[in-house]
Amino acid sequence: QRYFNDQELLRGKKVLVTAGGTVERIDPVRYLTNDSSGKMGFAIAEAAHLMGADVTLVMGKTSAMPPEGIRTVKVESTQQMLDAVVARLREMDVVVKAAAVADYRPVEQAEQKIKKKEEAMILQLVKNPDILQTIGSMKTSQFIIGFAAETENIDEYALDKLKRKNCDLLVANDVTQEGAGFGTDTNVVRIYDGSGLVEALPVMTKREVARQLLILTVQRMKKGER
Ligand code: CTP
Ligand code: CA
Repeated sequence: QRYFNDQELLRGKKVLVTAGGTVERIDPVRYLTNDSSGKMGFAIAEAAHLMGADVTLVMGKTSAMPPEGIRTVKVESTQQMLDAVVARLREMDVVVKAAAVADYRPVEQAEQKIKKKEEAMILQLVKNPDILQTIGSMKTSQFIIGFAAETENIDEYALDKLKRKNCDLLVANDVTQEGAGFGTDTNVVRIYDGSGLVEALPVMTKREVARQLLILTVQRMKKGER
């Protein structure tokens, strides 16, 4: 049911959305990444655009095509995504971290293609900076939305992430569930705020999840303005 005009909901607001997976180079022809399609982030960017927001999409590696007519900034590594987000944070009203960020990167990026030698080799990895946690600790008035992909203890892990990363809302999906997670056009999400579970949505299209999430965001931003 549409009781109000969607087109005005985010008019005048600046929204930054990250989407896709980050890519960590091993050498010039090899890298570590993940299966993120980018679809959830694209759906949010598109929904925010339809609600009148000025949207910037910071995207890593994706298998789906980004929506047309939206300003996009392409990045590869986690460090590049962090820099792109931090550089724009001050001017943003809403930041949505839908990207699947690589938790680790190779300690060294070889300048030349690595030649095969021994029977076994060890690739040493180091932890990446946490983009969401970094902006959560820097935030002034920005409304920050985090994501969490979980396979177990979804409520506990999601709330822990929300608090640790200082988000205003956290969207968790149980990736073991039918119709949820990477690559699909649908999702099954649970949305939390600092006091706990706000909404447990049934299976719906990512487009519809995006709209619901942004409506919750608008309602909460209004409350904060009092
Ligand atoms: N995230 C991030 N930077 C990272 C890792 C994650 O910004 N280096 C963000 C993701 O974009 C997402 C949220 O943090 O919005 C949760 O990501 P997730 O992988 O579920 O959580 P982690 O903190 O990495 O914990 P773990 O993978 O151990 O569950
Ligand atoms: Ca992770």
